Amino acid sequence: MWRASVLTIFPDMFPGPLGLSLAGKALASGAWALDIADIRDFATDKHRSVDDTPAGGGPGMVMKPDVLGRAIDATAAGARPRLLMSPRGTPLTQARVEALTAGPGAVLICGRFEGIDERVIAARGLEEISVGDYVLSGGEIAAMALIDACVRLLPGVMGAAASSAEESFAQGLLEYPHYTRPQLWEDRPIPEVLISGDHAKIAAWRRAEAERLTRERRPDLWARHSGPAAKAAGPK
Ligand SMILES: C[S@@+](CC[C@H](N)C(=O)[O-])C[C@H]1O[C@@H](n2cnc3c(N)ncnc32)[C@H](O)[C@@H]1O
Repeated sequence: MWRASVLTIFPDMFPGPLGLSLAGKALASGAWALDIADIRDFATDKHRSVDDTPAGGGPGMVMKPDVLGRAIDATAAGARPRLLMSPRGTPLTQARVEALTAGPGAVLICGRFEGIDERVIAARGLEEISVGDYVLSGGEIAAMALIDACVRLLPGVMGAAASSAEESFAQGLLEYPHYTRPQLWEDRPIPEVLISGDHAKIAAWRRAEAERLTRERRPDLWARHSGPAAKAAGPK
């Protein structure tokens, strides 16, 4: 079973949003498992300290390598990657999410304060993963984002009605726009083609809209999608 093990100093944050909706139902039905370790349980002093002042001075605090090292060692990873949530990390992509979903799960380490002692990263072979070019106050929300993105792709979680095949990024494009009833809302009609019943025309319109949005909003994705390497690989 796909398993996420989260190491955090805020265990009460979990399952949080992962206990609701698709992910929550899947968790309750045993489609995936979540275990949470409180990093403070691995502190040895009476204050259960997990942080100390930065070597070399400067603001903030740093998570201690001894405490975090013990917490990591107590969490059996098996074949699962050990991922440190970090703004310095490799940006998370849908391709990586798909690869993680195909594996046995992940161990997710949530930083706090200024971050964690660099030596733990090397000593425990942690892979740094970022959820975007901005700074959160802790790794918990980043870990939840990663877990949510993975869990919804597990077999049976989204159900037959929904499909990830045409979603944003699945084919290197952003998704086309959606509409639903009423047909006319505040003088804005649903595009004619979508109520034509002509499935080929609808598919062509959606494809063209996906390409237009990707070109306009994400020139980086568009370059990868339509560049020489993509053309050599043939149609997607
Ligand atoms: C306040 S941040 C530390 C930021 C760090 N001093 C820096 O400038 O890179 C505390 C923790 O939040 C998490 N975090 C913050 N932003 C993140 C992001 N974009 N992606 C993943 N984790 C993030 C990390 O676990 C980090 O150790």
